[in-house]
Amino acid sequence: MKSFSVVPACGAQGSIKLSGDKSIAHRALILSALSQQKTAIYNYPSSDDCLATLNAFKALGCRISQKKEKGKSSALTVTVKGQGLSGLRRPARPIFVGESGTTMRLLLGVLAGCSFQTTVTGASSLVRRPMARVCIPLRLMGARIEARGTQDLGSNEEYPPLNITGGELQPLTYTIPVASAQVKSAILLAALFADGVTRVIEPIATRDHTERMLAAFGARIKVNKQKISLIGNTALTSPRSVYVPADISSAAFFIVLGAIMPNSLVTIEGVGLNPTRMGIVQVLRRMGADIKVKNQKLKVKNAEPIGDIIVATSKLKATVIKREEIPLLIDEIPILMVAASFARGRTVFQDAQELRVKETDRIVSMVRNLRALGVRAEINKTAQGENVAVYGAGSVCAGRVESFGDHRTAMSMIVAGLCAQGKVQIDDISCLNKSFPDFLSVLKPLLAKRVS
Ligand code: S3P
Repeated sequence: MKSFSVVPACGAQGSIKLSGDKSIAHRALILSALSQQKTAIYNYPSSDDCLATLNAFKALGCRISQKKEKGKSSALTVTVKGQGLSGLRRPARPIFVGESGTTMRLLLGVLAGCSFQTTVTGASSLVRRPMARVCIPLRLMGARIEARGTQDLGSNEEYPPLNITGGELQPLTYTIPVASAQVKSAILLAALFADGVTRVIEPIATRDHTERMLAAFGARIKVNKQKISLIGNTALTSPRSVYVPADISSAAFFIVLGAIMPNSLVTIEGVGLNPTRMGIVQVLRRMGADIKVKNQKLKVKNAEPIGDIIVATSKLKATVIKREEIPLLIDEIPILMVAASFARGRTVFQDAQELRVKETDRIVSMVRNLRALGVRAEINKTAQGENVAVYGAGSVCAGRVESFGDHRTAMSMIVAGLCAQGKVQIDDISCLNKSFPDFLSVLKPLLAKRVS
């Protein structure tokens, strides 16, 4: 346990660089491993989740080396010697992926195409997360998967550990019942091994990093809005080098900090600006935030747009975040709830129920924490799901909150505490390592540059 006290600050000023986007990094590593060539991946984060993917592929026989990048405390250059689609080997022991849901679900897609048996398991928060959403389509393609039974949990869900035996996959046409980039990606990765055309239809558009990265590695993929098709059994050709832009989900904490803290002007350099991740910027601008994007480069090697985000102190007003916007900012909802608390009026997050199956139940963790800081927050069940309403009054009180072992809840509470009316005590922030080990060392210099 690493408890932490946050005292209010009076301004955030400066320019920061963040390590790479977690989602893009996972995909870059996986496709590099499945390609025929050697790939250098730059700005790869050394966060626990990204290392889980790297170690999983090492366990599968892939030769991977890593070295620290100069001047950045947590970025790595990772070199991967591709094994081709049939070169991965049965691991000596079960693969442990820590708390990384993305590693587990995407890895299952790859293992579905490998003709050996593997056990995949994870840490206590991950073995409580639902896996039926990936097991069902992968079984339809021909993978054999045994999951932990659910009788004890009283539902039809499936949970890790998972035993998977892959090989001999059939292509599939599948409409995904839940908006999930992880499920879409698991199917597209399995489709690489199937002889024929796999078609995936999404209910709502989700992050499209897998599609972009597959195209950059020469896969035969076509995207038509929410319909994606991929012709399998074609060798992947690496672009040889991939640069991972800074993670907009990590940038989100600094964007909100800059917007809600008086006397602030923060620049975040080289951030991934993929339109399927820009929900946070769109919603904050709608709330009145002063956010500018500069130095935008649209065409980089792996087809991910990148640019600088500049945010200044703003007066925020409430908004409604619609169902179709949720996947475009799914990981940013905790910090957006903090922004909503500092805005004036009732902000509603429609159909936010997917938050219940993240690292923790983020509806419970955030509503409890905001209430502990004197904010009115409500959960309303609807015919389609659950809405969360936050009644912003322009400030939050001092108080004691919990991270619930969840990195995004912890960082959201640190930002809230910096702008609160008094001290905010957080029970445990050791979970920051999951996505952002150097969060505090990036944050502190911004706050040191006080303005009078
Ligand atoms: C991710 C997709 C999202 C997101 C997660 C990363 C990805 O999960 O919450 O942090 O990289 O594909 P879902 O697919 O479960 O929505």
